[in-house]
Amino acid sequence: MDGNGRWAQRLGRPRTEGHREGSEAVRRVVRASRRLGVRGLTLYAFSEQNWQRPIGEVHALMDLFREFLLSEREEVLRTGIRVRAVGRLQRLPGALRQTLDQLVRDTAHCTGMTLQLAVSYGGREEIVDAARRLALRVADGSLSPDALDEACFDAELPSAGAGPVDLLIRTGGERRISNFLLWGAAYAELHFSNTLWPEFTEHDLYEAIASYQARERRFGLVSAKSEETAPEPPQAHALAVSDSDTAAERISSSGSL
Ligand code: FPP
Repeated sequence: MDGNGRWAQRLGRPRTEGHREGSEAVRRVVRASRRLGVRGLTLYAFSEQNWQRPIGEVHALMDLFREFLLSEREEVLRTGIRVRAVGRLQRLPGALRQTLDQLVRDTAHCTGMTLQLAVSYGGREEIVDAARRLALRVADGSLSPDALDEACFDAELPSAGAGPVDLLIRTGGERRISNFLLWGAAYAELHFSNTLWPEFTEHDLYEAIASYQARERRFGLVSAKSEETAPEPPQAHALAVSDSDTAAERISSSGSL
């Protein structure tokens, strides 16, 4: 969700005001995704690398995350959103961790949409942590090295629980993946938007999904449009928006773009 700092600086305001405005964009995008029928939405709220930002900005972000969870709690429960969190959550301040854990527990039964928050998250870190756990199992003899396959990693990576990424949206004119869901995004379609995150609207989201709909996903196979018959691609799901197929179908059937 890039561009909060620049948005604020453009207006001569502190960067933290950009983050606050960014949380309004989060509200818009979560609501729009839920309305569209997106089954999974992962928001990259704070990276492992973000801990190195000025301490005042880090504290302001932690406070803002907690405030957001508290203020959205009622709507999240009412609309059946299941909240998950991925990242090195043990690094979060106690009060935030408690609020987050509580909401994750209280929404565990919800089936409306999965909202996955990546906080203190890094794709490489997540893979290294999983590799360490698997290595321990090999060392204690409960896992054979020959049995180590993609499914083992999938089961060991918390973010993989939300499914593979179908569409990865990057805002603020950046053109990088920046350590986001590296495993799950292996076959993600990428969408780059120049919009600064605080200005990101429902329409930017629709635009991203429409662009996704227009693509042919081949998963390394030949084109379904080629003369030879290609086998069905493996089932995959949505995001940084995950499982947006439903949304895509709804948009195309309602023509509401
Ligand atoms: C990156 O943009 C953004 C962040 C490190 C923080 C994202 C946080 C929010 C959008 C606040 C609300 C989030 C939730 C989940 C409630 P940047 O600050 O690096 O912007 P820049 O690229 O303009 O410097």
